[in-house]
Amino acid sequence: MSDDIIVKFTNANILVNDKAYERIKNHENSNNFTDSLIEELSYSDKDIFVLTEEILDQFLKGGDPEDIILDNGNSDDLITSEIISKHAQEKFSSGRPFDFHVIQDTSKKSYTSGEIKDFSSYFKSRFEKLSGFLDKRGELKDHRPINRIRKTEDVVKIIGMVNDIINTKNNHKIIELEDETGTVNVLIHNENHKLFEMAELIVKDEVIGVTGSKKGKFVIASDLIHPGVPRIDEKPMDFSAVFISDVHIGSSTFLGDAFNKFVNWINTDFGDDEQIKIAEDVKYLVVAGDVVDGIGVYPHQEKELVIKNIYGQYEEAARLFGKIREDIKIIIAPGNHDAARLAEPQPAISEEYAKSLYELKNVEFVSNPSIVSLDGINTLIYHGRSFDDLAMTVKGLSHQESDLIMKELLEKRHLAPVYGERTPLASEFEDHLVIEEIPDVFHTGHVHINAYKKHKGIHMINSGTFQSQTEFQKIYNIMPTCGEVPVLNRGAFKLLKFSN
Ligand SMILES: [Fe+2]
Repeated sequence: MSDDIIVKFTNANILVNDKAYERIKNHENSNNFTDSLIEELSYSDKDIFVLTEEILDQFLKGGDPEDIILDNGNSDDLITSEIISKHAQEKFSSGRPFDFHVIQDTSKKSYTSGEIKDFSSYFKSRFEKLSGFLDKRGELKDHRPINRIRKTEDVVKIIGMVNDIINTKNNHKIIELEDETGTVNVLIHNENHKLFEMAELIVKDEVIGVTGSKKGKFVIASDLIHPGVPRIDEKPMDFSAVFISDVHIGSSTFLGDAFNKFVNWINTDFGDDEQIKIAEDVKYLVVAGDVVDGIGVYPHQEKELVIKNIYGQYEEAARLFGKIREDIKIIIAPGNHDAARLAEPQPAISEEYAKSLYELKNVEFVSNPSIVSLDGINTLIYHGRSFDDLAMTVKGLSHQESDLIMKELLEKRHLAPVYGERTPLASEFEDHLVIEEIPDVFHTGHVHINAYKKHKGIHMINSGTFQSQTEFQKIYNIMPTCGEVPVLNRGAFKLLKFSN
C-alpha cells in the first residue's frame, strides 16, 4: 500500500518529505487522500516540488491550492533519500549484480617523511617504472647506459629522464638527459621538422628514449620515443556509466537547478524517451573531484561562498547525492577544492569532514588518482591539476582542449610529469602517478570544459562542471561548459545537457 503512494507521488513529480509521508501513510483512507492531494497540487507549474508537513496542514485546513507554498526542490527541507530510493527500487528492483572493485587506490599507501632521501627514492621509482616500459620498445633494443656511449658513435640508443630543455640561439633544441650513470646533451635540429614538433611536447622530468648518433658533446637525435600505450580492443558494455566532476557545492556559482535536473534524469524522472532509456541503463556515476567548493582555496574565496564551512558543504553534497537512486554506485575521488591532502596522490575525501556523504550506502570513496573496475571497464580517475602545468609549459596545449593533454599524459605514461611547478606532488618512496595499467576509460576534470576523444581505443573524457563562470574565469576569458554530462551508454559516447 505505502509503495503505491510513493509511486503515485513520484509519477506526479511530487517529492514527499519524511514527516508528510508518515502522515499520509497513516491516514485512514491513504489512497484517496493521496489522489486528492495530487489533484490539488498539480495546479503548480513547477517541474518538481517537495510536499512538506506545512503544506499538508494547509491543505487539511481547506486552504486554497493557490496559497499552498510549493517548494522547487532547492529547499533546506530534507528530501528523504529513503522515499526516493523506495521509488527507485519499485522501478529498478532487478537486483542487478555489481562487479565493482578498486584496482588502484593510494589512500592508505601514501607515506612520506619529507626527508631528502624520499625525494631521491621518488625519482628512482619514477625512472625505474617508466624506463621499464621503454625497455620493452623494439626501437630501443640493446640500449646502453649513458656513461657507456663513446665520443663518436653512429648508432646510439639511450633512456633517460629530462633534466632540462634549452632553446639555442639558432632555434635548435637541446635536451639534457640523465640516467643513473650520467648525463648527456641531446640535440634536436630544427630542420628535422617532425622530430622538432615532437620535441616541443617534451617536458622536464619525463622519461624518454632517444636514438641517434654521437658527435662530440652531443647525441644528434633521429628519434624520440615515449613509453607509450598500446592500442586496446574495446570491451563490450551492457550498461551506462556517467561521468561528472567540479560540482562545487557551496559556491554561489553552483548551478543547483541544472544539478537537480541531472538527478531527476538519472532517476529516470526527466528527459525524452531516448534520454530515459539511457538513464535506465545507468549503473555507475563517477565523480572526478571538486565535489564541494571548499574553503580557503584561493584569496577572498569566502565572498563567493553561500555555504561558508566545509562541514556544511559536504552536508549539502550528501543531501543532493542522496537523492540519486540507490541502485547506482557512486564513486567519488577528491579534487584540489576537496577536504583531502593537496599533494598528489591525494587520499580519499576525509570522513571527518564528509560524514553524511559517507553515510550514503551507495557511495565509494577513492584516491586521486585511482583505478576502478566498473563491470570490467577499467576507469582511471584523475582530477587534472597537472593540466595547469602542461598548458603553461607546452606550446599548443591548452585548458580548452584537454583531450590533447590527456593524450600526452597517456603517451608519457605519467599523470603529472612536471615536478615542482603548480601541481604539488608528495615526495613519496614510490611514484603513484605513473600510469601502470592501461585503462579503458581515462576520466578527468579540473578545467571545467568538456572534452572527449578516443586514443588507441581508450575513451578520454573530461567531464566539465556544474559551476557557472567564476570571477577568476572571467579575467582569463575561460568559458566553462556547465551542466553538460558525458555518458558512456553501452560503449557509445553521449553528452546530455542540463544547463537550461
Ligand atoms: Fe573545479
